[in-house]
Amino acid sequence: MLVVGGSASKTLAEKVSKNLNSEFLSIEKERFPDGEIYVRVLGDVEGQETAVIQSTYYPPNQNYMELFLLLDAVRDLGAEKVSAIIPYFAYARQDERFKSGEAVSLRTVAKLIMSAGADEVFMVDLHAHRIESAPELFEIPARNLTAAPTLGRYIDNEYELEDPVVMGPDGEAKQWAERAGEAIGAEWDFMVKKRLGPKEVEITPRELEVEGRDVLIIDDIISTGGTMMKAIEILEDHGARDMYVACTHPVLSDNALENVRNAGAKEVIATDTIESEISKVSVAPVIAEALRQ
Ligand code: R5P
Repeated sequence: MLVVGGSASKTLAEKVSKNLNSEFLSIEKERFPDGEIYVRVLGDVEGQETAVIQSTYYPPNQNYMELFLLLDAVRDLGAEKVSAIIPYFAYARQDERFKSGEAVSLRTVAKLIMSAGADEVFMVDLHAHRIESAPELFEIPARNLTAAPTLGRYIDNEYELEDPVVMGPDGEAKQWAERAGEAIGAEWDFMVKKRLGPKEVEITPRELEVEGRDVLIIDDIISTGGTMMKAIEILEDHGARDMYVACTHPVLSDNALENVRNAGAKEVIATDTIESEISKVSVAPVIAEALRQ
């Protein structure tokens, strides 16, 4: 297998190729004065199974365009099988038509990935709450991988957690709390969140028993940090000891990281689906394992 690293995921792609013990192909990318991009795959993919890895975080439109060009190029250059790996999958929020006339961006992007030449697709902790499973979106094999157990194990190994509880800051994060809790053999639970506006959330605790215990709060995304800050506040009110915060995708808009730290997080840890100063955990082994299968 060959691994092609798009410009948004070069380091991660190199790690995946090392994990797979396979060849890494870098790309040449240039930008024309009008904003168009030019890409060239530096290597021969003919007759080879080829994985193209490209996250689509900021700027999502450019990163998607680069992904489409790369998928189409490797298909056109004769790759035997083309796997699209999109660790951070943008445009997943709009997974339904809420008002008439709206574009359902998640479905549009799925169609574009297929038509660009992908034979299979992998994503990590897809941020689409109303779509139960990724395969529903695609007419090709598709898997939604998760980083939650890896994040849980990292925090459990790095820090001496006292009687830990793993907590999802809202109902949607139940899946990640459960996976991380099971990975480290800890109890897990989740909280109930209501979004009041783009920057305002209200979190109500469930039956929490966190007094005197260390808590790992885990979610798919930290964007403004509002969800995590509220969760920390509530858990603190319930007597939690140290709070460790983890997410798969560190979107980290504005002062999100500083705000979550100031709210009382002892550590804030994320993966490298998006490169950031808190990307301490790599999803490379998770992606490599999926490609191996
Ligand atoms: C929402 O449903 C997600 O799972 C995250 O909880 C959310 O995206 C976090 O956003 P923010 O950091 O802006 O509260």
